[in-house]
Amino acid sequence: MQSTRPIGIFDSGLGGLTVFKSIAEKLPGYDYIYFGDNSRAPYGNRSFNTIHQYTWECVQWLFGQGCPLIILACNTASAKALRTIQQRDMLNGYANKRVLGVIRPTAEVIGDYSQSGEIGVLGTKGTVQSESYAIEINKFFPDVKVYQQACPLWVPLIENGEYNKPGAEYYIKLYLDQILAQSSSIDTLLLACTHYPLLQDRIKAYLPENIQVVAQGDIVANSLVDYLKRHSEIESNITQNGVKRFFTTTDDTQEFDQHASLFFSAPVKSEYVAI
Ligand code: DGL
Repeated sequence: MQSTRPIGIFDSGLGGLTVFKSIAEKLPGYDYIYFGDNSRAPYGNRSFNTIHQYTWECVQWLFGQGCPLIILACNTASAKALRTIQQRDMLNGYANKRVLGVIRPTAEVIGDYSQSGEIGVLGTKGTVQSESYAIEINKFFPDVKVYQQACPLWVPLIENGEYNKPGAEYYIKLYLDQILAQSSSIDTLLLACTHYPLLQDRIKAYLPENIQVVAQGDIVANSLVDYLKRHSEIESNITQNGVKRFFTTTDDTQEFDQHASLFFSAPVKSEYVAI
């Protein structure tokens, strides 16, 4: 048996670090491996089969590192790959392993944030086209109206470090105008892509005060705290030395570290993985 059995946190690139940050704050004692598939990001505009194939490869790599539990800190992978991984790929030989996503824990609580009962969901093309949020939110909040808007240029702007340059403003405003045009009663905008919290302040600057912007990090972290309490058979298998390691599929680890430190609000030193 491997000496460390960390929690694996996966994203197509840097975005999952916004979720990892919240998880590490609430659960500092566990060992963690963050894995970003930066060389193949963004996933958002890719086909179902490609997103599933990439995600499953990365999940298997994390299992190979000894992770008993993996969080897909990526809405696109949660929407497009999680179900197939849980219900087909892991049927044989993975009885003591778990993979969880970020959509269900968010859908379970997001209805409580809205007074008007109208929520706007901002996500990648893949997440929006999957309708996962509309379906999941309506299971928990049948009276809530869900509006969705794909924001396909936000992740490339963020992954390429262009998001705080003047040219980004046009695209930030463009997608906000498009979602707000769908209903004047939306009072809650969910950032349903783990990259988007990097844009949160700039998004807020374009919105009237009565519209709140919700990021998922703390929601997912709270849900994980609860999950570990309810699943001692998984929890007791995770090692607790407080060690965090970062891996990326891009060979430019220095660039990853530079951007990742902004997402994680702490210095990051990554290692390269060829996949
Ligand atoms: N952070 C991912 C998500 O939450 C990213 C998207 C992408 O790679 O397009 O959907």
